[in-house]
Amino acid sequence: MPTLIELAHEHTELEQGAIEHLAALVSEWGMLADFCFADMLLYIPVDKDRWLISGQVRAATGQTLYHSDYVDTWASDTERILLDKCIKSDATVQGEIFVQAINGTANMVAIPVRYEGRIIAVLSREWVVDNARRPGQLETTYADIFSKFAEMVAQGLFPFEGRVADASVAPRVGDGVIVLDAATRVRYASPNAVSALHRVGVSANAIGQTLAELGVAETAARNAYERKEPVIEEIEQTTEVTLLTRSIPLLRQLKDDIEVTGGVLLLRDVSELRRRDRLLLTKDATIREIHHRVKNNLQTISSLLRLQGRRLTSPEAKEAVAESVRRIRTIALVHETLSREPGEDISFIEIVRPLMRLVEEGLQSADRPVTFQAKGDGGRLPATIATPLSVVILELLQNAVDHGFPEGSAGGAVMVVLSHDEDELQIQVVNNGIALSPDFDFAKATGLGLSIVRTLVTTELAGTIEMRQATQADGVSSGVAMTKDGQGTVVELRLPVLARS
Ligand SMILES: Nc1ncnc2c1ncn2[C@@H]1O[C@H](COP(=O)(O)OP(=O)(O)O)[C@@H](O)[C@H]1O
Ligand SMILES: [Mg+2]
Repeated sequence: MPTLIELAHEHTELEQGAIEHLAALVSEWGMLADFCFADMLLYIPVDKDRWLISGQVRAATGQTLYHSDYVDTWASDTERILLDKCIKSDATVQGEIFVQAINGTANMVAIPVRYEGRIIAVLSREWVVDNARRPGQLETTYADIFSKFAEMVAQGLFPFEGRVADASVAPRVGDGVIVLDAATRVRYASPNAVSALHRVGVSANAIGQTLAELGVAETAARNAYERKEPVIEEIEQTTEVTLLTRSIPLLRQLKDDIEVTGGVLLLRDVSELRRRDRLLLTKDATIREIHHRVKNNLQTISSLLRLQGRRLTSPEAKEAVAESVRRIRTIALVHETLSREPGEDISFIEIVRPLMRLVEEGLQSADRPVTFQAKGDGGRLPATIATPLSVVILELLQNAVDHGFPEGSAGGAVMVVLSHDEDELQIQVVNNGIALSPDFDFAKATGLGLSIVRTLVTTELAGTIEMRQATQADGVSSGVAMTKDGQGTVVELRLPVLARS
């Protein structure tokens, strides 16, 4: 469907300013339709006797007369009579039109749209009278407001000039309406507006009081009156209640001045929305705070264990405690990373590096230097995977050092190679030290380290693991130089994850 601007360019000679005026009208007219409870159409004269329908809007407050879309179609004969009359008399006119869709007559009010002193289009209100319904106070008040806006359209005072505040976020007529006089005294408050006022503690009858007396949205309305344009403002009325308001001045053209005859205050209680916004923010902060505390607690536990380890004399016991300390610190590390970043996932490479430092710290002898390196990218992993996986990597790094470069060996290099695609994460831990024994069987390994690895990989991570002697080719692909085949060990992990990079 062509837009209003496209239609105007295609069929008329209207200049840019005039087209923008019509576009601004159309961006605002939902409010007009709501006040008059009817369909509205915008007609542009194309040549001597043709009118193009270039916009259509339905009221959110009432029923529609037109179930189909008439944009980019021509005005009917009966419509044209009224449109021509409107132009000729240079005034708002009312009459009956024949509507094919209902095979009957409807009412139409044709309002001239003025721009820079001349009529550039006609705005219509089209409806069928519902005799069964007697209009209440709300209906008659809204009809009165509508006729004031219609007069503004005819005088070229609506849509408002200049800076068009984003009306899409503004409250709608259905949210709550307060009608004000020229002194911001309340003339009428719709039921929804009364409810909103109640929530901010205005329980007495507001009619006849000024906004200043009520203590509601006074500055916003004053500004709107002074600037003669709508003002949108969010007001934190109390700590509990937030009101979104739109103050619209009602204007009238005098000889050479524009008079503010009153105003309309649309208001919406957005407390619940804002409360949820705040909750979301604090929820994220709370999760991070919890990760921070878990990390602190784990650090305390590892310190206590380390203290206990120092009192032990048996080297075997000392080593066992030291291993436990490393495992606990590994988990603490994941929580520390999670406490720093928003969200529940982390870039895995950021954990691999500190894990390497952890193992490096545990190396005691300078006679067999071991270098550590990480290569590639593991993408982002959720905390539920990152935690067990970190424990696994720690064990593999520790084994690469312990068994690849035992006391008496010359030292060498350990490399972690990460790669991932859509649904699988691959991790290799490679060392170029002493090779894995040929009769090593992973399934039968009974050490605590590999038992932890096996359990976590198969249960928590649902992945596979393979351990084998390295070859020259591994040296090339991983970047850890192997001097000969049968040197070094490769541990290969494959995990099904929905990795996101
Ligand atoms: N990277 C490796 N290189 C050579 N052998 C290894 C390697 N990783 C594990 N192993 C073998 O697997 C055994 C079991 O390892 P693990 O369960 O971690 O126990 P621990 O490290 O306490 O010996 C080791 O004793 C070693 O023989
Ligand atoms: Mg081990």
